[in-house]
Amino acid sequence: MNRENHIQTIFGAGQVGVPLAEMLAGRGFDVRLVRRRAPGRAMQGVTWMQGDVTDATFANDACRGASVVYNCTNPSDYHRWHGVLAPLFNGARDAAARAGARFVVLDNLYMYGRPERTPFAEDTPMRPCSEKGRLRAELARGLFEAHERGDVRVAVGRASDFFGPDTPNAAIFRPQFFQQLARGRAVDLMGDPEQPHSYSYTPDVARGLMTLGTRDDAVGRVWHLPVAAQLTTRELVERFAAASGRKAKIRAIPSWALRAVGVVVPLIGAVAEMLYQWEAPFVVDDSDYRRTFGGEPTPLDDAVARTLTSYGVTRPLAA
Ligand SMILES: NC(=O)c1ccc[n+]([C@@H]2O[C@H](COP(=O)([O-])OP(=O)(O)OC[C@H]3O[C@@H](n4cnc5c(N)ncnc54)[C@H](OP(=O)(O)O)[C@@H]3O)[C@@H](O)[C@H]2O)c1
Repeated sequence: MNRENHIQTIFGAGQVGVPLAEMLAGRGFDVRLVRRRAPGRAMQGVTWMQGDVTDATFANDACRGASVVYNCTNPSDYHRWHGVLAPLFNGARDAAARAGARFVVLDNLYMYGRPERTPFAEDTPMRPCSEKGRLRAELARGLFEAHERGDVRVAVGRASDFFGPDTPNAAIFRPQFFQQLARGRAVDLMGDPEQPHSYSYTPDVARGLMTLGTRDDAVGRVWHLPVAAQLTTRELVERFAAASGRKAKIRAIPSWALRAVGVVVPLIGAVAEMLYQWEAPFVVDDSDYRRTFGGEPTPLDDAVARTLTSYGVTRPLAA
């Protein structure tokens, strides 16, 4: 590695930004990890920077000399993306362009809408069926227009719903889920738990982004990052329960109830808008990534065990 490609900037120190920083630092890069809140835990090779990606002067400082800029930001409020998400994406993209850096973007799957076939691949047409999805589609198009114009070299990694250590903002496998599991109580699930669904393990997502940042053949397109869990939501819950020595207890929240509450509670309304993903098979084809880069996701048993350990869920003592 020569000196010029030593610096890597990550905007967003959340569920994926942090493990990505640790992995890049482990590879010997000088990592700048950016968020607005105060710096988090110290990591060797990682310099925390406190600031706002939408502040161009700050973003320029954060990207100065960087060879790769990663966008792992997300708005803090799930129900307030309008007017917030685009400045995050565009702020990071423009700072990467000014620095002459490759721009690697962590993205979700909202832009596809209800896929007509499953599993769906990177060439599935973007037919969003939600406000959030329309926004994502618009931003995805904007990114590749910037790439085509030669403003910035772009690589996009798309992931499905997260699980993993320290995922406070995951749709289902979040701290409350593991608290309920540890107490032997029923876990709440939205949508239809019997539908197949892809779940991405956050360390695999971080590793996938690192590949997009370091491999030249990754540039100029979208990649579906390796998916650790391709099963029904009920089956994944059962894997967590079995690995923790408990019986799975599920309480399905009726979709009509979520939609009704969503009319008056904006956050629930934003969740209800995306329910379609759990009402039909929602399975991602990640074979192109695997074929090209040779990366396999973490074996599911290991991913489940590491996630349980991180949440302190241990097997109950024998009576
Ligand atoms: N959650 C999922 O299950 C999931 C699944 C697939 C894909 N994704 C996608 O993955 C991406 C990252 O999401 P995530 O859930 O990993 O994010 P996250 O854990 O919520 O972290 C977001 C980070 O962005 C930072 N941030 C927000 N606004 C900022 C600003 N103006 N300037 C600088 N930093 C800012 C936040 O810190 P501060 O608030 O301190 O600034 C935080 O560190 C998003 O595009 C998301 O849609 C998420």
